[in-house]
Amino acid sequence: MLFKENEPMKKHTNFRIGGPARWFVEVRTVDELKEALAFAKEKTLPVFVFGGGSNTLVNDKGFEGVVVKMAMRAVQIDGNRVRAEAGVLSSALARATAKAGLAGMTWAISLPGTIGGAVRGNAGCFGGETKDFLVEAELFRDGQVVIVSKSDLQFGYRESMIKHSTDIVLSAMFELEAGDPVELAKELDQKLASRKSSQPLDAGSAGCLFKNYEIHSDEELQRLTQKLDIPSEMLATRRLSAGWLIDQLDLKGKQIGDAKISQVHGNFVVNSGAATADDVMQLVAFVKTRARNELGVQLQEEVQFVT
Ligand code: EPU
Repeated sequence: MLFKENEPMKKHTNFRIGGPARWFVEVRTVDELKEALAFAKEKTLPVFVFGGGSNTLVNDKGFEGVVVKMAMRAVQIDGNRVRAEAGVLSSALARATAKAGLAGMTWAISLPGTIGGAVRGNAGCFGGETKDFLVEAELFRDGQVVIVSKSDLQFGYRESMIKHSTDIVLSAMFELEAGDPVELAKELDQKLASRKSSQPLDAGSAGCLFKNYEIHSDEELQRLTQKLDIPSEMLATRRLSAGWLIDQLDLKGKQIGDAKISQVHGNFVVNSGAATADDVMQLVAFVKTRARNELGVQLQEEVQFVT
């Protein structure tokens, strides 16, 4: 196992932003994970564990600690049960399950990042969420490997109890449904095409920056409908697309330094060259202030900040 010193995190994040990790290591087994954590403990350094780096903004100064990349990438298919290790790319799992004639995961073809991160944040897109077909997850908790059932994981919209703990996802077990591999392959193509038409695919973006906004009460709904012409599907779910909101605020194309709000989708910030974490943070603050002052809406970041 190689502990790299002063490894630039911009090499490991979709944003292509981030200063050096004091130590950086890829772990392929639970024993390697234990070794990495022991290394950090011995040096009394903090640990940051990540998977794909797709939803992560690392500070320009870097991380004065040990960054652990989960690189266990096995997928086991047994009947309709599928176990995927934390480092498996969500898109790879979508392809593997479709090929095996198992339905339920095709939406994940356009999900950036790994299964570990997807479970932790209950990631979703195009009508699917990680929790949908998940039955249990294997977690590393206080030095032990534990199996936690779906109900105990307390999933919500982009939420799980894991986000509020020091647990590390090791693998996830899904129970899928029988499907036709030819039809599933078509679904994969359709989902990729709809992603291409609605989201920027250029490198240098961390996916959606903010969570979609939940309308909390009838009074709030009334207040917002006076200011905005809310599309019926958002009225039905009582959840406003953050991208749509940012579009309503006419902020597409807004740029601070090299961080720019995508022209394609308002909830994507793209690194148009040499953006810094500070550029992105300033843009985040700018959007939040405008949304709060003009619409009374408090946007919440979906992207994880590493400081
Ligand atoms: N819209 C606009 N302008 C924009 C963006 C969106 O008018 O700039 C409109 C769209 O035309 C559409 C509606 O808003 O009518 C909803 O947009 P979209 O279908 O893109 O969905 P979203 O709610 O903005 C969510 C997820 C995405 C996921 C897409 C596709 C969140 C925060 N976002 O976006 O997830 O890929 O649905 O299913 O939940 C992510 O979580 O990182 C992410 C990108």
